[in-house]
Amino acid sequence: MRIFVTGGAGFIGSALVRHLIDDTEHEVLNFDKLTYAGTLSTVERVAGSNRYRFVQGDICDATAVRAAIAEFRPEVITHLAAESHVDRSIDGPGAFVQTNVVGTYTMLAEARAHWLTLDEAARAAFRFHHISTDEVYGSLGAEGLFTEETPYDPRSPYSASKAASDHLVSAWGHTYGLPVLITNCSNNYGPYHFPEKLIPLMIVKALGGEPLPVYGAGDQVRDWLYVEDHVRALRAVFERGQVGRTYNVGGHNEKQNIEVVRTVCAILDRLRPRADGASYAAQITSVADRPGHDKRYAIDASRIGDELGWQPRETFESGIEKTVRWYLDNEDWWRPLVAASAAERRGAA
Ligand SMILES: NC(=O)c1ccc[n+]([C@@H]2O[C@H](COP(=O)([O-])OP(=O)(O)OC[C@H]3O[C@@H](n4cnc5c(N)ncnc54)[C@H](O)[C@@H]3O)[C@@H](O)[C@H]2O)c1
Repeated sequence: MRIFVTGGAGFIGSALVRHLIDDTEHEVLNFDKLTYAGTLSTVERVAGSNRYRFVQGDICDATAVRAAIAEFRPEVITHLAAESHVDRSIDGPGAFVQTNVVGTYTMLAEARAHWLTLDEAARAAFRFHHISTDEVYGSLGAEGLFTEETPYDPRSPYSASKAASDHLVSAWGHTYGLPVLITNCSNNYGPYHFPEKLIPLMIVKALGGEPLPVYGAGDQVRDWLYVEDHVRALRAVFERGQVGRTYNVGGHNEKQNIEVVRTVCAILDRLRPRADGASYAAQITSVADRPGHDKRYAIDASRIGDELGWQPRETFESGIEKTVRWYLDNEDWWRPLVAASAAERRGAA
């Protein structure tokens, strides 16, 4: 199939692109604006494939989206391009409304215009898949899990913009019959994660001998999923998922943020011990909590397991070990990004 991937130079999008080129026969068009969060080095390894091509463009630019779709004639659009960092959404929500809401609207309008040109069989086979987050469901107490029926209750400008875009996607399905799919996934981690997010930020700061900033007591709970497990879930959904359906994707790995940071420190202590013999955990520092910080997210991923047979392959222990090793082995990838963004980085997560 011809798969149009938006945001394919980012963390999850690039993992999807690499997976589609490495493990399938699908053709891929990577449509990405290359914001601060997108780098083509994430897809360098597969960029020589004759099944891969790249177009630099903005999902808010209807003319550019239309031209790319007309040329590629996708059978599936997997829409990942977004502003994705919660801290940035608190400082500057406008960009989140623009990219995540207006950009998703633009993608839907152009996808529908293309879809209407298809014959009946191609129309039935077409899929528009929106990649979203479990943060749209709000915050849980100590008990319970988010299911696909949990009412939306977003709390941050980021999650509100993703909730809005989910609703638009759903409306295009109900109103126009566009064959849509939505996945809501928990926190991802793994290779090529931009070093402003919690896990890579901690690795990078630990190695730099800097304080490791943890919000408040670090007792916020997140469910962690290895990014390659996520992209296998995405593929299962757009290849075999039921049109109009939402699938929650999660790793069955609930961890407090502080546990995650301590685990990273313990792996680094083993693989790259500090010169003074002390643990990297000595660098952990509590900082003022993020406003509106959600307490706990946890996912019930039984639907995608029962209906599509997807299960994560990595445990948190195996995935975090791979991730720390990857950052140790790939300093050439992250050091320039850290240098370029040092002036604007904030806290964590
Ligand atoms: N990272 C997570 O843990 C997580 C979890 C669940 C869902 N998601 C969702 O998955 C998607 C991908 O997340 P990520 O972590 O890979 O994000 P990311 O920030 O690493 O990458 C986003 C990509 O989108 C591109 N982009 C941004 N604005 C654009 C625009 N206007 N036009 C075209 N391209 C643009 C960027 O250049 C970048 O390559 C997002 O929609 C996010 O909401 C992320």
